[in-house]
Amino acid sequence: MQVQVMNHPLIQHKVTLMRQKETGSKDFRNLLEEITMLMGYEITRDLPLEDVVIETPIAKMTGKQISGKKMGIVPVLRAGLGMVQGMLNLVPTAKVGHIGLYRDPQTLEPVEYYCKLPDVVDRDFIIVDPMLATGGSASAAITLLKNKGIENIKLMCLVAAPEGVQRINKDHPDVRIYVAALDDKLNEHGYIVPGLGDAGDRIFGTK
Ligand code: URA
Repeated sequence: MQVQVMNHPLIQHKVTLMRQKETGSKDFRNLLEEITMLMGYEITRDLPLEDVVIETPIAKMTGKQISGKKMGIVPVLRAGLGMVQGMLNLVPTAKVGHIGLYRDPQTLEPVEYYCKLPDVVDRDFIIVDPMLATGGSASAAITLLKNKGIENIKLMCLVAAPEGVQRINKDHPDVRIYVAALDDKLNEHGYIVPGLGDAGDRIFGTK
């Protein structure tokens, strides 16, 4: 299984807080934003740098800056929205696209109901979705981006089931998956076990 589990102590501590059923929406949202920033720090490690000449109050020097690489953040609606601000805190110039998918009750396959993306030319994309369960929606979201000609795609999730990781590995072996936790399995209702419940409901305080 190809997946990078980000096991920094701060990430692990915060995921444990998020899992607890007593954690309310406000804390859940804040923790998700914090974890997204911690994960985003690692995920953006390969951003190319270039030299830039600047002047400090004391002297001229050559510093480093990110070399204009364009980035797109794409939350899968609706739970993915909870990871957008964390990424924007790190990369304020990133553009944000949105993908909405629902599951066809007959075929159980994801169907696109919304897709709005920024200019895709020379842009690297990170798809964000807290829960990688069956992998059906994440795989469909990746296909959607690939069909627009996007080549460099990463998938960033909070909690994954092995089933979801395997599905992405099979459908999109070129896409790297980053997670904060790899859990045991899916239950018969499609929830990740032990997981944290319905991420969208916990972010937005719905039932
Ligand atoms: N989506 C969720 O929000 N939680 C799960 O456990 C699985 C899918």
